Amino acid sequence: MRVDLHELGFRYGDGPWLFRDVSCRLVPGESYALAGPSGSGKSTLLALLAGWLVPTLGQVQRPGIARVGWVFQHPVGTPRRTAVDHVALPLLARGARPARALDEAADLLARFGLAGVVDHEFRALSGGEAQRVMFARAVAADPDLLLLDEPTAQLDRETSTSINATIDSLRSSGRVVVVATHDPDTQERCTERIDLSDESPRPS
Ligand SMILES: Nc1ncnc2c1ncn2[C@@H]1O[C@H](COP(=O)(O)OP(=O)(O)OP(=O)(O)O)[C@@H](O)[C@H]1O
Ligand SMILES: [Mg+2]
Repeated sequence: MRVDLHELGFRYGDGPWLFRDVSCRLVPGESYALAGPSGSGKSTLLALLAGWLVPTLGQVQRPGIARVGWVFQHPVGTPRRTAVDHVALPLLARGARPARALDEAADLLARFGLAGVVDHEFRALSGGEAQRVMFARAVAADPDLLLLDEPTAQLDRETSTSINATIDSLRSSGRVVVVATHDPDTQERCTERIDLSDESPRPS
């Protein structure tokens, strides 16, 4: 199980190159901080890793990766469904009984500091709460490759620290974890760093 990036390059249409010649191997047990200024292509690279975008140059190969979890920078949920419903869904899809799925989902939400909003509708959650609900949902799906886009950007320091610890425990449980982040604490807590800031020049 791994992800191989081979001479990867990407541009939207005939726009500027966001990056070129990115080659690396991502393996389970490590967490990769994807760094670089706003607009450097961090979210785009996550979309390439997920297979949602096709590389302009090069290849992404994911041998042995069956499930990909992706927590978006701007989370989108079902407005009138509760937080716990969002997290229970992948557990139900994996065959859990409804009562058990709801219990497990509530436990997961508590782990993300969300015990107080288990029964709140998604539309009533703050941005940081909504993103953590979607993080809990991604974990419930037991992904081999977990992609996190700015998971601490909307959080206070204490909650960020707890999310950084959660990221570390997910890494050590044998998944490939990639985190696009500006947060120096998150970057430091990750075991590896991929920097898009010093990539190729951007011709017009
Ligand atoms: N669908 C699209 N079509 C054209 N250009 C796009 C598209 N999506 C993103 N871009 C542009 O590509 C560049 C990289 O965007 P991306 O979202 O990957 O950056 P980022 O590094 O994640 O930035 P941030 O730190 O602000 O989240 C930006 O200049 C953005 O405007
Ligand atoms: Mg982004």
